[in-house]
Amino acid sequence: MSLSALVLFALYLSAAAEGQNALNDIIFSGDFEFIDLTHPFDNETVYWPNTRNFVFTRKTEELGQGGSSWYAANEFAAGEHGGTHIDAPYHFYREGLHVGELPLDKLIVPLIIVDVSGLVNDDPNFVLQKHHLDYMLNAGNRCVLIFKFGWSKYFHDKKKYLGVTESDELNFPGLGEEIATWITTAYKNVVGVGVDVASVDPGCSKDFPVHKVLSSSGLYNIENVNLSMDVPSYGCTALVLPMKIRQGTGAPLRFVAICPKKLN
Ligand SMILES: *[C@@H]1O[C@H](CO)[C@@H](O)[C@H](O)[C@H]1NC(C)=O
Ligand SMILES: *[C@@H]1O[C@H](CO)[C@@H](O)[C@H](O)[C@H]1NC(C)=O
Ligand SMILES: [Zn+2]
Repeated sequence: MSLSALVLFALYLSAAAEGQNALNDIIFSGDFEFIDLTHPFDNETVYWPNTRNFVFTRKTEELGQGGSSWYAANEFAAGEHGGTHIDAPYHFYREGLHVGELPLDKLIVPLIIVDVSGLVNDDPNFVLQKHHLDYMLNAGNRCVLIFKFGWSKYFHDKKKYLGVTESDELNFPGLGEEIATWITTAYKNVVGVGVDVASVDPGCSKDFPVHKVLSSSGLYNIENVNLSMDVPSYGCTALVLPMKIRQGTGAPLRFVAICPKKLN
């Protein structure tokens, strides 16, 4: 290598290193916070009816050598669709991707929160329609859209959260089919749709049109998002990181947002 080539190479390396540091400099500058949008998994976590709940089994907790050492390990089992979780497109679309096949560039994306809780006003039969939102969305960058119905506050009370009636019908708010069709046709930049209720379709739905429309367009869903805290509507980055279950139709999810801190 000639001297000038060496110099160029060194310049290139330092520029690349600066580029790398730039992201860390931004994220860890103190201007951003990490917000956990995940409900914890324990024996009270809400699961879809007729799915195996989260079963946590204490296996080993041992003090050894007169208290000088410690060893603990547990086991868990659970259905795919409970707590804060992802629905892979394969859940409702035979040609769709499984959880383990979802690419990272669809899982680490800008986050947009659409807060319709004021419109829902605690009505368990509210169904979101297109006219509610016409003014809110602008086509733009790749993003995940999370709809806030104001339901996270009921998560600790499974009956209320799912709106279970005496005849085992469910009643909680959800999206209307025309919203799903509209998002998938007008907004090709949306890669996933999430809700702070148990399903993207409303509780009363029997045929799950929103699941069908979204999955056949390749979108994933996020259900049971914890939106108890304030999250900025725009400007956050979503980390949608499900357990990488290779053949999964869904999976438990750690859902985190990186958000600019409020300037006040
Ligand atoms: C939801 O998040 C809030 C704020 O972080 C937290 O206090 C609450 O325990 C969470 N709720 C559940 C059921 O996970
Ligand atoms: C969950 O486990 C706790 C103890 O860890 C227990 O007190 C509680 O009753 C259990 N809840 C259910 C719904 O089984
Ligand atoms: Zn699901």
